[in-house]
Amino acid sequence: MPPKRRLGVVGLGEGRSILSAARSSPRWQVAAVCDLDETLCRQRIEEFGLDRWTTAYDDLLADPKIDTIAIYTPDHLHLDHCLRALAADKHVICTKPLLDSLIGADRLLDAARRSSGRLMVGQSTRFFEPMINQRRDVEAGRHGELVAVDAHYSTDARWFLSRDWSTGTTFSWLWNFLIHAVDLVRWYLPDVDEVTGFGTVSPNTLRAGLDRPDSLRFVLRTPSGQLATVSGNYTLPGIDQRLEPSIGCLIRGTEGSSRADYPGLTYHTRFAGEGPRSHDFTALSGHYFRFEGTSHHAGEYQNYLDYFATCLDSGLDPRPGPAEAIETLALLEAMERSLAHDGQPVRRSQILADHNLLTLLPPTRHLRGRSVGVSKQL
Ligand SMILES: NC(=O)c1ccc[n+]([C@@H]2O[C@H](COP(=O)([O-])OP(=O)(O)OC[C@H]3O[C@@H](n4cnc5c(N)ncnc54)[C@H](O)[C@@H]3O)[C@@H](O)[C@H]2O)c1
Repeated sequence: MPPKRRLGVVGLGEGRSILSAARSSPRWQVAAVCDLDETLCRQRIEEFGLDRWTTAYDDLLADPKIDTIAIYTPDHLHLDHCLRALAADKHVICTKPLLDSLIGADRLLDAARRSSGRLMVGQSTRFFEPMINQRRDVEAGRHGELVAVDAHYSTDARWFLSRDWSTGTTFSWLWNFLIHAVDLVRWYLPDVDEVTGFGTVSPNTLRAGLDRPDSLRFVLRTPSGQLATVSGNYTLPGIDQRLEPSIGCLIRGTEGSSRADYPGLTYHTRFAGEGPRSHDFTALSGHYFRFEGTSHHAGEYQNYLDYFATCLDSGLDPRPGPAEAIETLALLEAMERSLAHDGQPVRRSQILADHNLLTLLPPTRHLRGRSVGVSKQL
C-alpha cells in the first residue's frame, strides 16, 4: 500500500462528505480543514476527530505536509481557490461546477499545465454504484454501438434559493444542478456538439425574486448523429423517488440498453442473450448515504477520492480533468444560449471558439481512447 496522502479541505458544508470519505479510506489522512466560519471548523474537528483547523486558506497552501487540497467553497470562488492551489503545486479536487463561467477557463488550463499538481473535478454522480456498473457495461461493449443517451436530474431545490451566494448574478440551475445529467451525457458522448432546448421560469422561482429558467428540456446531437436528451426541474414538488428517481441515465445501443438510477441503488439492463434484469445495490446504502438521509452521498466522494489516489500513484490522468470539465461547461453555456434564443440550435464548439479555448484544449477523448475508465480503477 503506497503511503497515505494528506488532504486539506476548504469549505466545510458539502466538505463534510469528503471528510467522511477520507476518514474511512486507507489511502488518505486529513491534515487540516479550513472555513471562514470558526464554529463550523470546530464542529467538523469534533465530528471527525481531527486536530488542525484554520480560517485562512493560505495556511493550507503553505503547509508542506498537505499534498492535496479539496475545494468545497461556493461556486464563484472555485477559480481563485484552484489557481492558488495549483500555484502552490498541490493536487486539487474541486467540487462541481469547476467554474461559474468560462471567463478564466484559459487561466485555469494554463495553471494546470504549469503545476506539478493534478486537478480532478468531483463529478459525484459518476461514482454512484449503478452509474459505475453502467459505465463498466458500456466499456465492455455490452450496449454495442451507442445510439442515444437520455439523462435527467430533477429535485425540488427551493431550499437552495435561500443561500446567500446561490442567487448571485451568475447563478444558473444548469451550472449548479443540471450539470450532473449533462456530465453523464458527455461521459458517453464526449463529442456532443449541437444543442437545442427550452426552459421556463416557474412561479415558484419568480416568488423567490429570480427569473432564471428552472424547468428545462434539451435535445443534443453529436457530429455523427448520436442523440441525447437532458431534462431537469428544480422548484416543483416531485412525486416519489421510487417512481421518479432524481437522477437517471438511460443508454440505448445496438446490442442492449440500460438505466442507472439515483438515489435508489438500482440498475436495469437488457443485453444480447439476456432478458431484462434488475440489479439491486441497496446493500451498499450504508456506504453511500452516511448522514442526513439521501441528501448527502459521501460514498460517491469516497469512491472518487480513492480513484484520485490510484491515478496519482500510477501517473494516470484523473477524469474529469480540467479540459474535460471545461468542455462540459461550454456545453452548458451552449444550452443557455439556446434557451435565450428561443430554442435556436447552438454548438459547443462555437462557444469554445468564442472564448478562444479551442486551441487550448486537447482533441476530445473518446470512450475507448487512452484514458483509463473509472470502473476499471475502482
Ligand atoms: N453533488 C455534489 O458534488 C455537490 C453537492 C452539493 C454541493 N456541491 C458544491 O459544493 C460547494 C459548496 O456547497 P455548499 O452547499 O457546501 O455551500 P455552503 O454555502 O453551505 O458552504 C460553503 C462553505 O464555504 C465557506 N467559505 C466561503 N468562502 C470561503 C473562503 N474564502 N475560505 C474558506 N471557507 C470559505 C463558507 O463559510 C461555507 O461554510 C458548491 O460549489 C456546490 O456546488 C456539490
